[in-house]
Amino acid sequence: MGLPSVGLLAFGWATPALAGVAVDPGGKVFRLDGGHVTYAFGVDDKGYLQPLYWGPEIDAQAPLQARVSTELSGFDPAGMQTAQEFPGQGEGLVTDPGIKVTFADGNRDLVLKYRAHRIEGAVLAIELADIARPLSVTLRYAIDESTGVVTRSATVRNDGRQPVRVEALASATLTLPGASDYRLHFLSGRHAAEWSQHTVPLSPALTVLESRRGSVGHGNQPWLAISRQGQTTEEAGPVWFGALGWSGSFRLSAQADNIGRVRVAAGFNSYDFAWSLKPGEALDTPPFYAGYSPGGFGGASRAFHRFQMARIIPGGERAPLRPVLYNSWEATAFDVTAEGQIKLAERAARLGVERFVVDDGWFGERHDDKAGLGDWTVNPRKFPQGLKPLIDKVHALGMSFGLWFEPEMVNRDSALYRAHPDWVLNFPGRPRTEGRNQLVLNLARTDVRDHLLGVLDKLLRENDIQFIKWDYNRNWTEPGWPEAGADQQRVYVDYVRNLYHILAELRRRHPGVEIETCSGGGGRIDTGIMALTDQAWTSDNTDPFDRLGIQDGFTMAYAPAVMMAWVTDAPNWANGRTTSLDFRFLSAMQGGLGIGADLTKWNDAEAATAGRWIAAYKGIRATVQRGDLYRLVRPVSGADQTATVYVAPDRGQAVLFAMQRGSQWKDQWAPLRLAGLDPARTYAVRVLGGGALPEGIPARASGAWWMNQGLNLRLRGDYVGVGLVFEAVKQL
Ligand code: DGJ
Repeated sequence: MGLPSVGLLAFGWATPALAGVAVDPGGKVFRLDGGHVTYAFGVDDKGYLQPLYWGPEIDAQAPLQARVSTELSGFDPAGMQTAQEFPGQGEGLVTDPGIKVTFADGNRDLVLKYRAHRIEGAVLAIELADIARPLSVTLRYAIDESTGVVTRSATVRNDGRQPVRVEALASATLTLPGASDYRLHFLSGRHAAEWSQHTVPLSPALTVLESRRGSVGHGNQPWLAISRQGQTTEEAGPVWFGALGWSGSFRLSAQADNIGRVRVAAGFNSYDFAWSLKPGEALDTPPFYAGYSPGGFGGASRAFHRFQMARIIPGGERAPLRPVLYNSWEATAFDVTAEGQIKLAERAARLGVERFVVDDGWFGERHDDKAGLGDWTVNPRKFPQGLKPLIDKVHALGMSFGLWFEPEMVNRDSALYRAHPDWVLNFPGRPRTEGRNQLVLNLARTDVRDHLLGVLDKLLRENDIQFIKWDYNRNWTEPGWPEAGADQQRVYVDYVRNLYHILAELRRRHPGVEIETCSGGGGRIDTGIMALTDQAWTSDNTDPFDRLGIQDGFTMAYAPAVMMAWVTDAPNWANGRTTSLDFRFLSAMQGGLGIGADLTKWNDAEAATAGRWIAAYKGIRATVQRGDLYRLVRPVSGADQTATVYVAPDRGQAVLFAMQRGSQWKDQWAPLRLAGLDPARTYAVRVLGGGALPEGIPARASGAWWMNQGLNLRLRGDYVGVGLVFEAVKQL
């Protein structure tokens, strides 16, 4: 997981194309330019590293300069008033620090000043050091030349002779200039209700977005955005955004300081965390991605989606499109047998499904959620001849084969737990609290890590598997690691690092295998795990109407390229709502399409409808998965209408999804004005999946017409929708 690279690297201010990293001749001012964004910071006369600018690109001659701050009053001395690029907890700092330590002698004062800088390829490295003690912090920066997203991280190093206790460590701290109209936006939720959107004023009240759960969880996302009230809309105005690439406990905080400047800190969660940094040892943070867009929330999310697709998702721009998937969970739950799955596979293949995934229940004594986790051997009664006959059948039907795992968990009722009761997170003599009847294996232990890697590697070597759904169905309770003694609070970092190690190693050893991140739906989705997985299970809530809100929230932060959505049976298991198959497809086609229904219960007409939608999806999925997403009408709570449009990178195709919860007599949509098209090209429109164009919509018109005049829709009924495909007409 390296830092993203940038194309052009420039030294000195004479930067012709304003892209890359530049340092002024005096070595005092540093700037990163890319994607029409400038990010700058500099050293003041006292040696503090100060943030200088983050926003729309500014000219190369801009008089950027770090100035020494004076005290505001005796209560706010100069050191405290100076906004620092990465402050140590010392000198009376009252905002969230970049780092907090306790030295072996009890000293807790850390004041970081600039020591040196290096340019390492496309990365600018700045070394800060304490004013008296041999402890340094290296900050790393890289800017993406296309989107202007800045990747930051920090490394703390102990060059002393005694261990140092690191009690808080951020990947980045960031500052925005004073204003009273900043708004903070974040995503939160719970199991089967993830991705709800929240906005609060950025005020002197410290807002903390965190997970204390060991994993990311379904609660706050490690993502935030900052807008300006009255200026920022969906498609215009400034948005600063950031995301932490970390799949464990995290902390993002934001606050207006005593003069209204915004201070953001993002990194490991300091709650219950500590790391004893031995002499000569260094501790690295995960990356924090920080972006700016003048184009509102839509502009910000499109830039971040593009960045994720180019720089984070495995394979980058060459990553394969998500195949249409079938998953057995909602159809068979734990009642998985070879014949039952073959029946489903035959029906799925007839619909045009490309990947068949057997979910929970195929292994050990897994007949319900009370037993079997940890025993990753095929259940001989369910699969008397092993998995091979099923896998061969799935392949013969022209589909790839996928299998569900939940490697980090164990049931008490399992051979693994009976053999290794000490392998779970626990505090001796304390209860071992179960969630869904399971305990969490302590992946921070290298023996546990190596065991899991060995088991998974063997299964992949012995079976022709193309896809793993990697699930994780509870969070931590007693986060103890008794064998690590006084140093056990490092479990929060070692656990996640070992998880990443297993994923990276499996990818290296089995390059043809794709992985889905799942944690009871969307409980572990972040830009850290994104670098090691190919897709994400967005939510266990598969209701197609609820999904519109879920997908709207998800795409604020993450790319539709990884957002999986299934068509399942009605009434929906989550809320009992009944919707048409057409509506379910139109909702799920706005991400990576999957089917999770019990196909043995579908009649011929339903199968034919599904086959038609799947074929239609294949004609637009490149646009949906790799294009630019414009959220035209957002599904704010209670909304009757929702519309999204996806535009292919070459602007040759656009796909509009208009979804309606209900309408009253003669209700009509406000004109839907498309976005992202080429105004000068002519686009012909057709109905996705076939059928006559809704009344009043011309068969073709220029991009300018579709974007300025727009189209007038009138849909009748509850939970109805329409997809329209706009294809650029080749000029003769
Ligand atoms: C939670 C996942 O989100 C579901 O899709 C399913 O895989 C179950 N776990 C299986 O236990």
